[in-house]
Amino acid sequence: MNKTSKFITMAFLILAFALGIFASYFFRIGNEATDSMAGPEETKGIVNIYTARHYGVEQVFAAFTEETGIVVRFTTGSDAILRERIKAEGKFTPADIYLAVDAGNLWLAAEEGLLSPVVSAALTDNIPNNMRDPENQWFGLTKRVRTILYHPDRVNPEELSTYEALADSKWQGRLAMRPATHAYTQSLVASMIAAHGEARAKEVIQGWVANQPTLIDSDTRILETLAAGGADVAITNHYYLGRLLEANPAFPVRVFWANQDEQGAHINISGGGITAHSPNRENALRLLEWLSSPQGQKLFADSNHEFPANPAVLPHPIIAEFGNFVADPINMGEFGRLQAVAIKLLDEAGYR
Ligand SMILES: [Fe+2]
Repeated sequence: MNKTSKFITMAFLILAFALGIFASYFFRIGNEATDSMAGPEETKGIVNIYTARHYGVEQVFAAFTEETGIVVRFTTGSDAILRERIKAEGKFTPADIYLAVDAGNLWLAAEEGLLSPVVSAALTDNIPNNMRDPENQWFGLTKRVRTILYHPDRVNPEELSTYEALADSKWQGRLAMRPATHAYTQSLVASMIAAHGEARAKEVIQGWVANQPTLIDSDTRILETLAAGGADVAITNHYYLGRLLEANPAFPVRVFWANQDEQGAHINISGGGITAHSPNRENALRLLEWLSSPQGQKLFADSNHEFPANPAVLPHPIIAEFGNFVADPINMGEFGRLQAVAIKLLDEAGYR
């Protein structure tokens, strides 16, 4: 074999192997789901989900199956990888629903033509305007607040105010944050660009960088670092603290709601939309509507200590104790529209 044909053979084998892993994983999950529930022939059909949200989804989907007879099959991956997969599969995709954990990625999926608009009074009634696509291609289902966390022995909450104020040199060597590569960081920066413009946002990032934050690519590990004394202040999603407090009510980290005298705390969503080539569209719509209903919201949000997107539903007691807060009212689609600029600013400011 010459070099080119060797390369083509290798590339083919790698592709075949990757597809094999995907297929076996997808169908294994599917079989587990159908094994534990009624078989598809006795049911009202199926719905296939590509979900980046992997926290506690099984019990939520099982409750939906129980109520409707529709079997849920799902496969997990990151927001970006699942989006690429739907794109590559085109009109042959088995995915009916794309569930993401960042609004920026939902916006990108819609922008790339991977989703389709739905007409649903239930969804538009249950989900506030700023948490869904203006063309109803995607809907937020749970809210996560990316806010400031601190160790109460080393920080007086009166010293805290905004994300921007963490650029002050008094926080030199005291911060723990998520790297620039993570969508959570990019969406937070996108919200600062929307609030103050690019120049000011870049100045803030430069200030953070000058404070030499410890960058950790896991919100849980960031909070453990705070607890262990490796940092005094951090930015994470609120539900990671909810989980740690559930396991240990004495976990020594507190929530501070950021930017309360300004645009409000940065909210992101987990949410989903129906794919453009969904093979089980009616079932997919039924599931999204159910997830937005009080019953679905309670299960879906509580399984991860998130705030329900539906304002009629009360949050889990652990996070209700964090207290009320003002949320940034921005339409979350902006995180997608501004994602490329956010990545550019983070890079230019030397935030890795
Ligand atoms: Fe998360």
